[in-house]
Amino acid sequence: MRLDRFLCELNIGTRSQVKEYIRQGIVSVNGQIVKAPDCKIAEETDRIVFKGEELFYRQFVYYMLNKPKGVVSATKDNTADTVLGLLDAPTGKNLFPVGRLDKDTEGLLLITNDGALSHRLLSPKNHVDKTYLAEIRAPLSCEDIQALETGVDIGDDKLTAPAKVKVLSDRQITLTIHEGRFHQVKRMLQAVDNEVLSLKRIRFGPLFLDESLAPGESRLLTTQEVALLHES
Ligand code: URA
Repeated sequence: MRLDRFLCELNIGTRSQVKEYIRQGIVSVNGQIVKAPDCKIAEETDRIVFKGEELFYRQFVYYMLNKPKGVVSATKDNTADTVLGLLDAPTGKNLFPVGRLDKDTEGLLLITNDGALSHRLLSPKNHVDKTYLAEIRAPLSCEDIQALETGVDIGDDKLTAPAKVKVLSDRQITLTIHEGRFHQVKRMLQAVDNEVLSLKRIRFGPLFLDESLAPGESRLLTTQEVALLHES
């Protein structure tokens, strides 16, 4: 791995900041100051020191992507762009999205190589809350809200679990669910004779979409955000 990438992966700074740090001579590899950002290091075994502090390679990485419309939540697809293609992430990390958003849904998608955490976050026993901002075709009645909040029949063997609706305006709501059924939000709105016109996930468990990320942009999670995910 390149030295500048290693430092970026550890959130030491942006790509241009870490290049500057390296040129300033404050990074050493196995005791030698290295001033070339593209210096190749063996990240698991080399001893990298930044400002006197040893840095340790992380096996697991966690990204927040603001998924744009039009890309699929998959690692590979023969016809469409995938969310992984949007990340400026090192290859060989075996990254994958934590669950799926529909091709036409945008918003918060976690991407990681931590299979155990992903499994826990998606497990039906332990589904975390997910909040979606939805543009809808028609205003919701009080009965619609009550139905969505108690459980609706979306054609599966059981009703949806209780959800939370917040009406922002006639055509805009947020819906918080903690299951993760296929097309769940769209099907819930259909169940009350409505329709989702656009959908954006703004929260996943303890994490909220970082609004400074434009659609298609991603960033590494902070250490605190990773800790929150592990606690959730
Ligand atoms: N519900 C949907 O209908 N689509 C999504 O992408 C996510 C939740």
